[in-house]
Amino acid sequence: MIGLFDRLARPFLHVLEAEDAHGLAIKMLKFAPMPPAARDDRRLAVRAFGLNFPNPVGIAAGFDKNAEVPDALLRAGFGFVEVGTITPKPQAGNPRPRLFRLDADAGVINRLGFNSQGADAALRRLAARARSGGIVGINVGANKDAPDRIADYVELIERFAAVASYVTVNISSPNTPGLRDLQQAAVLDNLLARVIDARDRVAPNAGPTPVLLKIAPDLALPDLDDVVGIARSRRIDGMIVGNTTVTRPKSLRDSETAKEAGGLSGRPLLSLANRMLAETYVRVEGVFPLIGAGGIDSGTAALGKIRAGATLVQVYSGLVFRGLALVGEIKKTLLAVLERDRRTSLADYVGADAAAVTAQPWPV
Ligand SMILES: Cc1cc2nc3c(=O)[nH]c(=O)nc-3n(C[C@H](O)[C@H](O)[C@H](O)COP(=O)(O)O)c2cc1C
Repeated sequence: MIGLFDRLARPFLHVLEAEDAHGLAIKMLKFAPMPPAARDDRRLAVRAFGLNFPNPVGIAAGFDKNAEVPDALLRAGFGFVEVGTITPKPQAGNPRPRLFRLDADAGVINRLGFNSQGADAALRRLAARARSGGIVGINVGANKDAPDRIADYVELIERFAAVASYVTVNISSPNTPGLRDLQQAAVLDNLLARVIDARDRVAPNAGPTPVLLKIAPDLALPDLDDVVGIARSRRIDGMIVGNTTVTRPKSLRDSETAKEAGGLSGRPLLSLANRMLAETYVRVEGVFPLIGAGGIDSGTAALGKIRAGATLVQVYSGLVFRGLALVGEIKKTLLAVLERDRRTSLADYVGADAAAVTAQPWPV
């Protein structure tokens, strides 16, 4: 049924300007009733950050920025949904057009710049569904004009902890000038200290809330050393690797669209994202789990992401080209691999190829 819904809608969505197509997809999820996806096989279950995920396939931040459709996405078969990025105050983001499809490459470039309805609107929606179950993570970011960006993260953790399965500190969007500077060691150490302190302060009322850090795939390795070291010493619960890239791989065929400023995602990001994931995995030494994102558009790619070091995976751009049927395909592939190897848990595959991936030539 989801496949049918997809086949009907996708050609239509593709003739629209990318951002209009996205708006319509949200509306369809909101208003078109869909039957729930089948119950997940128990072998796909994953336990991470103290949470029980029915399957390891999540939808990445940026699709449901304002927490309008988390339950429809859970019903469609995702094991978890990450809403946001949410900023404290509403803000419009960059002028349109700011979202581009690279059809020949199965890639996307966006420079949305944290368009957000703001914390009040999202909090109202999330509070209304707080008892509905399902894992809903909340990705938070700073307003562009914030005088103290760290204070924005602290405020959002305090306000959202009670309705979040986990909170992601997003310091890796390339489209808010200076945001990625928060990844610098001294600044990051201060940011994470204050964020964890805020989380611990509200925990007596809000309950335990895992805090994850989402990083850019564009970090230099010495900087990644620092980031992982600080994440470990500040006892972060996990990391997401990672966001979009400001680099443009040589392989891109849609060379005109590739000139658009912004973050590149989708298939052209896969090898860089996997490399950064594996580099992170070997540095983290199993102290906390990783969520792998970037370029997954098939079951095989999702398995590769797990083997590179991901306990959980997230998809976004792949959905633009493959539709919601991608979620079912990934789960089917993972289950087939478990069957083939007579295994009962995906944990056996996590990081199995990490060392090999880090030994390859750097992806260009
Ligand atoms: C249109 C678009 C908007 C995005 N917005 C956000 C965002 O608000 N916050 C965030 O952390 N990541 C955002 N991302 C990044 C995705 O969450 C993901 O990390 C990245 O796209 C790599 O995954 P993919 O190749 O499967 O798309 C966005 C990506 C796209 C394509």
